[in-house]
Parts: sequence; C-alpha cells; structure tokens
Amino acid sequence: MKIVHLTDLHVQTPPRVRDLFGKRIVGSANLYLLGRRAKFAEASQRAAVAATLAEEPDAVVITGDLTAQALDAEFSAARALLDPVLARFPTVILAGNHDTYVREPSPGARLRQVFGPWMGPRSPHLHRVGEVAFLAIETCRAHPLSSGRVPPGELDAARRLLAADDAAFTFLCLHYPLRGRDGEPYRPATRALSNAAEVERFLLETDRIGAVLHGHEHHGFRTEVPGAAGPVPVFDPGAAGYARLPERGRTAHLNVYEVEGGALRSVRRLALGPGGFVEEPGGAYASGG
Ligand SMILES: [Fe+2]
Repeated sequence: MKIVHLTDLHVQTPPRVRDLFGKRIVGSANLYLLGRRAKFAEASQRAAVAATLAEEPDAVVITGDLTAQALDAEFSAARALLDPVLARFPTVILAGNHDTYVREPSPGARLRQVFGPWMGPRSPHLHRVGEVAFLAIETCRAHPLSSGRVPPGELDAARRLLAADDAAFTFLCLHYPLRGRDGEPYRPATRALSNAAEVERFLLETDRIGAVLHGHEHHGFRTEVPGAAGPVPVFDPGAAGYARLPERGRTAHLNVYEVEGGALRSVRRLALGPGGFVEEPGGAYASGG
C-alpha cells in the first residue's frame, strides 16, 4: 500500500482588517511585514497536489498547517486546492497550529467544518484504509505561543482505539515533532508539544505503532523514538508549500511510504525541482534538510 504524506502547505490569502485580532496581528506582521509570505508559494502547493495525483497512492496524510492564519478564505482556498486529491484517494487530515489561530469550541473545529469527512468527528480518531490504520491526535489549540499538547485523556482514548482495531500497520499522525533532527527533545518550548514525553511513554507501552508522521518543522528530517518492539521511525517530509529557492538551498518536499505485510518497506522523499517533484538525489533525506 502506497501512502503520500504532505504537510505544512500554508495556503494564504491576505487578511481583511476585521480579521486582524488576537494572534493574527502578530501572524500578519510576520507574513506581510517581515517577508514570511515569500517563504511559501502557490506554485509549490499546486505542484505538490500534481505530484500526489501522479503517485496514485492508496491513501494520503496531511499533518496540519493547511493554512497560514486560519482565515475562512484560506480554508476555502485549501479545500479548492486539495479537492482533486480528496475526490480520488482516502485522505487523513489533522489541524496544525496555523489552522487554530482563533479560539474554537474544540481543537481543529474550524478546519473540521471544511475538512470534517477527512478528520473524523473528534480527536483522537483512527482512520482505517485496507490493512493500514492512521491514528490521528490533534495537538493544536489557539494559544499566544506556537506550542501544543495532547489534551488529557486522549492517549487513553488512543489506547482504546488501538485495542479495538486489527490493522497490520498503524501510523501515529501528529502535527508536532517529538524530537529534533538529532534526536534531542524538540525545542524551543514555545514551538513544541509540551507533553511530548507522554506520547513517547505511550509509544514505549505499545508495539502497535509502526511509524510516526508529523510536520511543523519546515525543513524535513527523520528520527526515531523507542517503542515496545524496538525503535519507531519518525518522519517529517518538510513543508510541501515551501517556495523553491535554490539560492537558499530551500524547496518543497513530500514523502511516499510503501507498507506491505505489516511492515514499512520503503520511504521515498520527493523534492520540488524546476519541472516538478522528483526523487531527492541520493535517497530520502540525503540532502539533510
Ligand atoms: Fe506548525
């Protein structure tokens, strides 16, 4: 079974004056005054969708930050961008911190209004596609910092979902990293999952999670964490919406996983070149970022 993993598309539209409250004032200043806007590109977002369609995967996972500032217009634009993927492949979507800029009744509620069928009714949710399961846990909330946490009780709920399912292979899907690119605790705390250690304890108790997928850090990396049956690989492809800026050594990425017989058989990482997404030279993560 082939799975495409996209993250951090950061679809953006200019805010209207009445949208500028709370965290968006800082977010808009970052985007429009400090030049962050140019870090992401519609051309990359469209190319990522084209590459996903070309792979003809059995499933697609999007680990959050579909939008830049959780604006209604951005949710609509992200939906229009992704509709060709959603129409063809089973897709699993999680909210990122950028999708939860404003207070909502439950984390990811606004994204769920637009992408509900691909998020499940509540967090955590176990999505099953053939022999593979995707255990999605929402970790983002409106908060002045860019930190997140797994809400109380969600890991217990996740254990119950795993116990009731018999998938041969399960991906744990989060927005935030558990570790940094050298295996150290992910920093800074202002941008991290505050209870990442609890998630790691959860992984130490179960042999059911075959790999962890996440985003948030725009330069992708892979690491691993200890699990009950040995090290569990952890993958961040890097931002799929990143502008292609060869002079800065920066481009968009996505991952393609192959799972067969209950095991992860291969990981391919595609990078956006001048003519579209192509395999990263030297193999997945050979470029180092
Ligand atoms: Fe993020």
